[in-house]
Amino acid sequence: MDGFTAADPGLHGCELYDQAELYDIAYDWDVTLELHFVLTCLEFYGRGEPMRLLEPACGTGRNLVVLGRMGLEATGYDINPATLNFARRRLQEEGLESRCRALPGSMADFHCAERFHGAFTAINSFRYLLEDHEVLSHLEATASMLEAGGVYVIDLSYAMPPRMRPRVIRWNSRRGDVSMKVAWRTREDRATARSHETCTLDVKGPQGEQCLVTHHTTRLWQAEEFLALLARTPFRLEALYDGHFQHLPDSTIPHGGMDNVYHVLVKQG
Ligand SMILES: C[S@@+](CC[C@H](N)C(=O)[O-])C[C@H]1O[C@@H](n2cnc3c(N)ncnc32)[C@H](O)[C@@H]1O
Repeated sequence: MDGFTAADPGLHGCELYDQAELYDIAYDWDVTLELHFVLTCLEFYGRGEPMRLLEPACGTGRNLVVLGRMGLEATGYDINPATLNFARRRLQEEGLESRCRALPGSMADFHCAERFHGAFTAINSFRYLLEDHEVLSHLEATASMLEAGGVYVIDLSYAMPPRMRPRVIRWNSRRGDVSMKVAWRTREDRATARSHETCTLDVKGPQGEQCLVTHHTTRLWQAEEFLALLARTPFRLEALYDGHFQHLPDSTIPHGGMDNVYHVLVKQG
């Protein structure tokens, strides 16, 4: 585990994603079902079977590798060099480089010449776009990289309703002789529309025990704000699904009490 040894006093305030292997172990759940759901959305709401996908903020490539194994072409990009290196190594090890790639880039302005049938952004990565102009340029650029009628699925959660507090999300993970307890705490600040999040990894491995604490500032979304910004982009909101892939009624106003919500956006025109 690069840069993370038993001698470290604890890496407070560093980037979680710099510790790509630890991130990858922490988030080591099976994404196959979720990706089947995403592909079904791309086909149902788009124009036929998707063959080429874009994944903004692809991290360590856990989605890319599953898409590649399914025989699809997938391009991911990420702002963090450590996660990108991890993703590239993984794609190489699996012999998927001819179909899948991981490129450097920011969601705020990434663009490439390739055209995709659909795009997917997982587990709230979209919330790292803090400002309206970044959100707008991201959606504009993503739309321009999609074929006509292309679909963009965004997994995004919202601010808690008044009087409900965000809960601490905890889970355990293990790979080989490394095990960890993960705790993700959130403090919402409605006044600044920011969510201040702390991720704590308590890791046990061959080199001993270690605690990695990282801080994340993400955008705190309200449904009205999301819809208002979306109205200024080439996308229209076609459907919402809950975290169990259940279709939500059209009248649904999503909020933080619903956990994550999948937004199915369709490129207009
Ligand atoms: C929660 S991880 C998700 C990674 C991956 N999609 C997955 O499912 O494992 C969030 C990722 O967003 C990336 N990220 C944060 N801000 C970004 C930005 N502005 N542009 C591109 N990637 C960004 C981080 O480097 C990190 O890899």
